[in-house]
Amino acid sequence: ASSPLRPSAAVSANYSEAIELADIDWDNLGFGLQPTDYMYIMKCTRDGSFSKGELKRFGNIELNPSAGVLNYGQGLFEGLKAYRKEDGNILLFRPEENALRMKMGAERMCMPSPSVEQFVEAVKDTVLANKHWIPPQGKGSLYIRPLLMGSGAVLGLAPAPEYTFLIYVSPVGNYFKEGLAPINLIVESELHRATPGGTGGVKTIGNYAAVLKAQSAAKAKGYSDVLYLDCVHKRYLEEVSSCNIFVVKGNIISTPAIKGTILPGITRKSIIDVARSQGFQVEERLVSVEELLEADEVFCTGTAVVVSPVGSVTYLGQKKSYGDGIGVVSQQLYTVLTRLQMGLAKDDMNWTVEL
Ligand code: COI
Repeated sequence: ASSPLRPSAAVSANYSEAIELADIDWDNLGFGLQPTDYMYIMKCTRDGSFSKGELKRFGNIELNPSAGVLNYGQGLFEGLKAYRKEDGNILLFRPEENALRMKMGAERMCMPSPSVEQFVEAVKDTVLANKHWIPPQGKGSLYIRPLLMGSGAVLGLAPAPEYTFLIYVSPVGNYFKEGLAPINLIVESELHRATPGGTGGVKTIGNYAAVLKAQSAAKAKGYSDVLYLDCVHKRYLEEVSSCNIFVVKGNIISTPAIKGTILPGITRKSIIDVARSQGFQVEERLVSVEELLEADEVFCTGTAVVVSPVGSVTYLGQKKSYGDGIGVVSQQLYTVLTRLQMGLAKDDMNWTVEL
C-alpha cells in the first residue's frame, strides 16, 4: 500500500509551484525499498516483439514456478536515477546508456530486449507516474530499477519462451550506511565475482547473488564491502560488489579496464569523462592490488553509490588508510557530477534528459 500524498509546505516552499510530495520522512532516506504508486510491465514472446507496456499499481507479480528466471537465473537488471531540479522539474541521467547496456546483456543471456526507445519511454512513464516520490533536491533521488526476466515456463535447460520487462522505483538516499563518509573495504583473495568468458561484464542477477557470501563475511567483520581481484592472477583489481573502483596518484586516475569481467558502469564512464574534462589523466588498464598501497586516494563509482570515497583497504591483514575525510580529487569529481545530475550546472555533456 502506498502512503498518502500531501502538499508539503515545508519542502515545497523552495519551489516556484507547490509540489505534492508523498508523506514520508525525506530527511532520513537510506537505500531501502519504499513502495511507490506504479510499476511498468511489458511482455514479450520468443519472437522478440514486445507488446505495448502498461502502468499497474505497484505490487506483487505472479510467476510460474517453472519460470526461466527462477530456475536458471535468466534475468538482468538496470539501475538509474531521476533527480528533482531546484525548479521542481525532473532530470534523468543518461537513460539510453542503460537501455544499451540491457540490450548487450540480453544478447549474452539469450533474451530479447526492449528497443532503446521502448526502454526510455517506459522509464519516463514510470517516473512521471511516481513523481510524488522523487525527493526534494538535496534529499536524494528516485532510484529506477528496470528488470528483464525469462518469465515463461521451462523445465529442461533452455531460453524461456516468454519474457517480462518491468520497472519499479523507490526514493533513495545514500547507499552505504556511512553516508558520504569514507567506506572501508577488504580485498577478497579466495572468492571471485567473475571469470573470463563468464557473465561478469553484464548486469545479470546471478552476479549479485555470487558476491553475497564474501560481502556478508566482510560486513560481519566491520567492513563496508569487498573489493574483488581477477581470478587468473589474483592480483589485479576488478570491482567492489556493487560498484567500480578508481585509484588516484597525483594527477593520474586509474581504473580497471573493461574486459568482460567488470561491469561497464555508466557512472564509471561518466566519471572518466568528467575527470578528463577537469584536466586529470585517466588510465583504463590492469591495476594491481599493490598500487593501492601507493595511492593518494581511492574511490568507488556506481549509480547507487554515486562517488564513494574509500577510507581504507585491507589486503592480507594489512590495512592501508587514506584519511578520515573525502579526498580532494574524489570531492571534486563528486561535486562536478552531482551538480550536473541535479541540474545545478550547465550540462555541456548533454547527459541529462528533462521531463
Ligand atoms: C546500481 O548501482 O544501480 C546497482 O545496480 C548496484 C546495486 C547492487 C544497487
